[in-house]
Formats: sequence, C-alpha cells, structure tokens
Amino acid sequence: MDKLQAAQEHFIKVVQEQLERVARMKEDTEIVDYTKLDKIIIGCCGGDGIGPAITAEAERVLRAVLKEDVESGKIEFRQIDGLTIENRIAVNKAIPEDVLAEIKACHVILKGPTTTPSKGDGPNIESANVAMRRELDLFANVRPVSVPEEGIDWTFFRENTEGEYVLGSKGVVIDEDMSFDFKVITTQGTRRIAKAAFEFARTNGKKHVAIITKANILKKTDGKFLEICYDVAKDYPEIQVDDWFVDIISANLINEKVRNQYEVFVLPNLYGDIITDEAAQIQGGVGTAGSANVGNKYSMFEAIHGSAPRMLETGRQMYANPASMIKAAELLLRHIGYPQKADEVLKALKIANDTIKMTGRSDGATGAEFANCVIENL
Ligand code: IPM
Ligand code: MG
Repeated sequence: MDKLQAAQEHFIKVVQEQLERVARMKEDTEIVDYTKLDKIIIGCCGGDGIGPAITAEAERVLRAVLKEDVESGKIEFRQIDGLTIENRIAVNKAIPEDVLAEIKACHVILKGPTTTPSKGDGPNIESANVAMRRELDLFANVRPVSVPEEGIDWTFFRENTEGEYVLGSKGVVIDEDMSFDFKVITTQGTRRIAKAAFEFARTNGKKHVAIITKANILKKTDGKFLEICYDVAKDYPEIQVDDWFVDIISANLINEKVRNQYEVFVLPNLYGDIITDEAAQIQGGVGTAGSANVGNKYSMFEAIHGSAPRMLETGRQMYANPASMIKAAELLLRHIGYPQKADEVLKALKIANDTIKMTGRSDGATGAEFANCVIENL
C-alpha cells in the first residue's frame, strides 16, 4: 500500500478511537463514594521483580491497621496473582483478560511495580501500568512529596489517561527513515484533572496551583490543557493560579530559594512522569514516594519506582525497602475514608525510616523487619 495512504488510515483509526473515548468520558460522570459502601474490596497485585515482596509487606501493614474492619467484614483483601511479566508475555497482553476481570471485581488495588519490556528488549507489550490506568480510567495520578524541614509540601496532579502515553503503543512507522508517535489532549480529560487539582487545593487549604505545560511549543495540545485549566480555575477564585513551562519548573524545583512556594501542580502525562521522579529525588529518592491513581469508579495505589529485576536476579528481594508501597497503602487508606489510620501509618513509617537501616543487601534490614517496625509503632 502507498505509504501516505497507510499513514492516513492509521491516523483515522487513532482519531476514531479517541473520539469514542471522549464520548465515554462525557457519559461517565458518576463518582463512587467509598465511605458509603457496605464493604470495600482491596485487591493486592504483587507485580514483578521486587514487587511481590514489598507489596506483601505493605499489605501486612494495611491488615494490621484495618484489623477490626477486616474482622467485621467491612474490608476484604483479595490476592490477584496473574499480573506477572511471564504471564503477560504468554498471552501477549498488557493485562490478561482473567486478571483484568479479577481487578475489576475489587474497588481499590494495591499494586507492586510491573516490568515493561522496552523496544528491542523482548516482546513489544504495552506497560501494564498504562493499560491499567486506561482500562480502569484512572485519570488522576496524585503524587505527594514533602520535605518538612525545608517547608516543601507539594502535590502533583499528573493527567494519567491521555497526553503522550495513551497513544504510546499506537505510533506508526512510515518507512525505514521515519516514525511518528502521537499526543492527544481533550477538553474532558483536562477538565477532570484540573477539577481534581483545584478541589484538592480547596479542601486542603492550599492557596496556589501551578499549571505546567510547554504551550509555547506544543500550541495545540498543551495550549488546550492550559486554556481549560485556567477556565476551571475561575470556579476557585480564592486560589491563586499561574503557569510555568516544564523546563523552568524542573530548574525551580532544585532552586532552594523558590521551591517551597509551590503547593499544587497540574500537568500533562509525560511532564508529570518526569517531574515527579525529580520531586521524589528531592524527598530522598524514588523509593520514598507513593502514588495514587484515581478514577470515578476505581482507584489503584502503587510505588513510583520500577520492579528492580536485578535485585530479584541476585536473590535480594527480601532486602528491598517496602517504604514506597507502605506510602501507597497510606494514600489508599486516605482515599477510602480512613484519614486517621492513614496518619497513623505515616507517623509509624517515619519512625521506621529513621530507625531501620535498609541497604538493599544482607548488611541491612529486611523488608519484613522494616514492616514489623511500622506495625509495632501503629
Ligand atoms: C510511573 C512509571 C510508569 C509511567 C511506567 C512504568 C509506565 O514511570 O508510574 O511513573 O511512566 O507512568
Ligand atoms: Mg515514572
């Protein structure tokens, strides 16, 4: 087939799918209130590499803090085992059908890191993270970062279902000399993430929201993101709003003179991915950060780091630090209506961080010892 015609057909298909997604977003406005459910089902997916080890420790902390509600039947834990790279390669799917059905039968998911093969690194399977965020429509990726001694208390609202990622496996190779990937931004997709950020600011007494784009260059997509965020801001007159380009914001985050002035950030997917790793590093490393992936119906809580396959290969998974997954468990508790228990976990986590020496090797503590310390201090 003629190259131009093939490209055209490919693009038409991509646009059609996205138009259908917009139509679904317009319909899907009902929000599940977890505090009104008689029973909350928490699904635990261990994932790959060090994932199963650190997720099991975080689950132990959750079970300890929710003991009474587990006994009364208000909370049920379910183990979901099939989200492994071996299984995903075997069925050639980012999330095997049966695993997705098990996930969808839960309300919230605690998920360990999953391995994603990069180009040239085995089969071309889509990231399980990206797939889960899309399948469950988890549009808000909320990532808190705090360094109290420096007055840093940031919350990032990364758009999680569009931008460069939703079409990441839908790019097109025109010929041996040329390839395209696509970025999509929609009014509905932007409005809902902006609303989530401003609502958070309002209910948590934050005074400032920063919109991050590169709208001077990506005028259509980031331009739309910027315009819609400012439009949503009109409903929150008490909150100061401004916008920054992603390059200067990455510099400002390492500028100690200005960085503690920021509070809430709202940003498209790719920038959110990059900037939140930078922010986590300022807090003490990606291993210290947790991440909430929230939609209208489902939500999923995870670490922001990867599966560290080398640790598993060298048999060191039991020395992996579960702090990030325990942080994810804390965010989960807050989300399902247990803010006091979340505070308890946070306090105990700080004690464990200050007293238990984790090195990732046998000269340090094990993940179980770390989690025991958290549990003892609840
Ligand atoms: C994250 C990760 C994921 C992402 C990967 C694993 C797909 O980096 O959660 O930040 O890019 O979103
Ligand atoms: Mg990332």
